[in-house]
Amino acid sequence: MKNITIQDIKDFKKAASPFATLTAYDFNSAQILDAAEIPLILVGDSASMIMYGYNTTLPVSMDEMLLIVKAVSRGANHSLVVADMPFLSYQPSLETTIKNAGLFMKEGLAGAIKLEGGERVMKNITALVEHGIPVLGHIGLTPQSFHQMSGYKIQGKTPEGAQKIIDDAMAVEDAGAFGVVLECIPEPLATQITQKLQIPTIGIGSGNTCDGQIQVFHDIMGLMGNKPPKHAKQYDDLYTNMLNIVKRYKDDVEQL
Ligand code: KIV
Repeated sequence: MKNITIQDIKDFKKAASPFATLTAYDFNSAQILDAAEIPLILVGDSASMIMYGYNTTLPVSMDEMLLIVKAVSRGANHSLVVADMPFLSYQPSLETTIKNAGLFMKEGLAGAIKLEGGERVMKNITALVEHGIPVLGHIGLTPQSFHQMSGYKIQGKTPEGAQKIIDDAMAVEDAGAFGVVLECIPEPLATQITQKLQIPTIGIGSGNTCDGQIQVFHDIMGLMGNKPPKHAKQYDDLYTNMLNIVKRYKDDVEQL
């Protein structure tokens, strides 16, 4: 696979079929995704739960994210690595936004960053793009607003809610993002936004009509030992497989 650029991701807008993207949080899984020619790898702040064992995406820090962004970048030779800005790494000021996004690019060697929000982060997206930092937007269900949303719920179900998400999508595009994640919104709304925008939409829990799809690596692998979200197809049960391997190894050692 060639080295994937921002333009390649933008060009998926015109592709005949949707493109597949996934999260990764370490060197080894990044190598696997790269070998499978997954064009975009997101080092999601879902790492907060999956890698660090916190309950939500809120606690994960810049330092914790930077460590794993570096590891993923080392494993991804061709895929575009997108680093997710953790909670409060961009909200306080434009200076904080540029400094932290810059760390992901300069030290983490990411090719782009992602941040949550629509109209309210327009200024942040504009400032980043002006400084040469490509941005992937993220609207609809934005997990960093877990408490404000009173939990993880489908967004945009009312006409006002849907209009707000359309406005957010337009704001993200106008600010200069190269793509936008649409998380957990109704499929007809995702279709409308996908048709309206010039930049590719990447859906998760938003139906099948987006330009691309994203899922959490551990959900599709069945690595977490719990039921994945409804929108994630679990292709295997690696948690049980790995548990059985560890048990067999333990038995072997105990019989030496
Ligand atoms: O953090 C994450 O994993 C995400 C995606 C699933 C969109 O933001």
